[in-house]
Amino acid sequence: MGLIVAIDGPAGAGKSTVARAVARQLGFTEVNTGAIYRAVTLLAIEQAREEPDELQEIARTLVLQFEGALVLLDGKDVTRDLRSEAVNKKVSQVAAVPAVRTELLGLQRQLARAHPRGAVLEGRDVGTVVFPDAEVKIFLTASAQERARRRYTEMQFKTAGWVLPSITEVQASIERRDALDGSRVVAPLRPADDATVIDNTNTSLSDVVTEIVSLVRATISSYDAQRSDSRH
Ligand code: DC
Repeated sequence: MGLIVAIDGPAGAGKSTVARAVARQLGFTEVNTGAIYRAVTLLAIEQAREEPDELQEIARTLVLQFEGALVLLDGKDVTRDLRSEAVNKKVSQVAAVPAVRTELLGLQRQLARAHPRGAVLEGRDVGTVVFPDAEVKIFLTASAQERARRRYTEMQFKTAGWVLPSITEVQASIERRDALDGSRVVAPLRPADDATVIDNTNTSLSDVVTEIVSLVRATISSYDAQRSDSRH
């Protein structure tokens, strides 16, 4: 199995952008675990199902593929639908159902292990639950105000044709999700004890990418050194 890089943190901290760039520079695959929870939520909304056992069934039978930046659900491109306000509003509720989380563990591990060199996974509990033995663990965060500002800017590009919420609404939605994700009983959002915490309120995401890539390269070098020591 390749090397696992876990990037956890709250909504809008820049995890997707950073994970994509880190994965590209290292030649690793990237797994956006939030998209998996969003896909379950989208199906739940479409099928008007919301009981825990119904949600578990959706998670168990999920057929999801990642093709570059696109997410395919049952073969259909749902990349845009996954970011709709309806999904934003409901996803934390779906992600708080313990049976849904358990059901999705296997899929997350399988997607990461499919790549021989390694994988960068971004989410909320990758370093604490999905891969507690990940070789590199990052907890990426920024102030709620800065995260709202970035999400708002991103929305201008990604949601053409939709009614845009105000920046105050975006910040309120982010803070509501932080509270829900951080207070749930199973796998709440928190840094792993051995995670490197990076607050990027005042740093550019490209500096964060450089920092993480050097951390990963240092980890690879130390493993190589240990392997060659044990041969001598
Ligand atoms: O990263 P995101 O905003 O796309 O994540 C959507 C939601 O999914 C988020 O509110 C919490 C949940 N999530 C989770 O509970 N565990 C993960 N590993 C990833 C996301």
